[in-house]
Amino acid sequence: MRFEEKTVSLKDGRSCLLRSPGPEDAAGMLAHLQITAGETDFLTRYPEEILMTEAEEEAFLQKVLDHPRQVMMIGVVNGAIAAGASVFAVSERMKLRHRAVFGIAIVKEYWHLGLGQLMTAECIRLAREMGFEQLELQVLSGNTRARRMYDQAGFEAWGSVKNGFKLRDGSYQDDVLMGLFLKNAI
Ligand SMILES: CC(C)(COP(=O)(O)OP(=O)(O)OC[C@H]1O[C@@H](n2cnc3c(N)ncnc32)[C@H](O)[C@@H]1OP(=O)(O)O)[C@@H](O)C(=O)NCCC(=O)NCCS
Repeated sequence: MRFEEKTVSLKDGRSCLLRSPGPEDAAGMLAHLQITAGETDFLTRYPEEILMTEAEEEAFLQKVLDHPRQVMMIGVVNGAIAAGASVFAVSERMKLRHRAVFGIAIVKEYWHLGLGQLMTAECIRLAREMGFEQLELQVLSGNTRARRMYDQAGFEAWGSVKNGFKLRDGSYQDDVLMGLFLKNAI
């Protein structure tokens, strides 16, 4: 789905436009994925695992726009994609379709400016509007900044997969599942 765009203020005074990406953003979105995957170990992919072509990404972004229960959000600062987030249904099967999954990645240059918190709040609102009953996410156990942000947004830890992530250096981190009941959330 496409959500109504809005402009928010970052902590440094700059404006950030929150909008749905479309097929025309394919190159920018692929660059964003590459940049964020290379800047942190806290995302699930290494940069070389981002293999979509621009044409595939265009088709993917159009599919998300056309889907009533999928939404993507980008934060654009001075014309550059600073952040991306998404809310996707876990499944369309009857037993699972009340659940959605949330993900977010912000370019390092734009960390600590309140953007994570703002986009998380907007995505929670959209998840509720799309009719989901609960919003879930997965986070590496060592990602204390993200976990604090999610705690503040009302998510709680529901469990974890021990050693769920194995990094290139051979170290492990638990895969922590967090969730938020949307019916009761603020
Ligand atoms: C995690 C991430 C989304 C946070 O986004 P952000 O825009 O930097 O976060 P915000 O500025 O909105 O801060 C949100 C909260 O995070 C926490 N936080 C931010 N910076 C922090 C710091 N230096 N130390 C501790 N907590 C911190 C705080 O709880 C903060 O709220 P507060 O400012 O009211 O104290 C962003 O750092 C990111 O994209 N990281 C890489 C990818 C990633 O980890 N994605 C999540 C995968 S599950």
